[in-house]
Amino acid sequence: MSITLSEAGQQWEEAATSHLLAPGELDLSHKVILYLEDISVSFDGFKALNKLTLTIDAGELRCIIGPNGAGKTTMMDVITGKTRPDSGTAFFGQTLDLTRMREPEIADAGIGRKFQKPTIFENHSVFENLELAMKTDKRVRHSLFSEIDDATLDRISDTLKLIRLAPDADRSAGRLSHGQKQWLEIGMLLMQEPRLLLLDEPVAGMTDDETERTGELFRSLAGRHTLIVVEHDMAFIEQLGGKVTVLHEGSVLAEGGLATIQADPRVIEVYLGR
Ligand SMILES: Nc1ncnc2c1ncn2[C@@H]1O[C@H](COP(=O)(O)OP(=O)(O)O)[C@@H](O)[C@H]1O
Ligand SMILES: [Mg+2]
Repeated sequence: MSITLSEAGQQWEEAATSHLLAPGELDLSHKVILYLEDISVSFDGFKALNKLTLTIDAGELRCIIGPNGAGKTTMMDVITGKTRPDSGTAFFGQTLDLTRMREPEIADAGIGRKFQKPTIFENHSVFENLELAMKTDKRVRHSLFSEIDDATLDRISDTLKLIRLAPDADRSAGRLSHGQKQWLEIGMLLMQEPRLLLLDEPVAGMTDDETERTGELFRSLAGRHTLIVVEHDMAFIEQLGGKVTVLHEGSVLAEGGLATIQADPRVIEVYLGR
């Protein structure tokens, strides 16, 4: 059997994208960006995660809810390599085994995490914070005083617009409001071009107006990025509009659209009805 040159080219391309990726490159050929399967984590015999199985598609905006102690933060710790699971598998794309990677390798592979307390440089300007956060070629010493090229300048200016801090670019980060500091930290994460963003209670302490703007920001990021958002604020989750996963006692209790979740008697029992 013979094939034409163009068929051969096409086959080669398919092989190249499905099997011959450079080490560390993200393989999204099955549209899934994150697979957790039967993940268990115990602390002194207590199961914080108990055979947790969860799949996230590339580009999704997934909300995770559940009572305190359900294992939401521990799940993020496993994804980012901070906590090693006792058992189970965790894959980023088709090929990257998160349980065998160290925290910096996972961050480099494209998983960014936002903690509740912003870790911004208070004494630097908003602009400088974004510049400092950027993934730079490690062979080239980078400092605030080196020349910025046009492409970098464009990226910083795009991010400033996205996080609504363009008018505040030259302000000292320490002088921003609580909500603006959170946005700046999200902007700093974005400068590292993450594929998957983990956000643990991102609107805690924000005003209603800031919360709504944050929702708009997340919606605009979905598609290009994948977001996993842990939150308690139901109005915010409704605004995000994605699929909702309910965690309880370290595993998935229910999953689906918010309306379905809110009508689920098991979810009302353990979480919503309190
Ligand atoms: N490092 C740790 N050492 C001991 N217990 C922990 C540790 N981290 C979390 N836990 C326990 O695991 C359970 C799940 O915690 P966590 O993942 O923080 O829940 P959530 O974020 O859903 O509130 C809780 O009972 C918590 O006390
Ligand atoms: Mg938590």
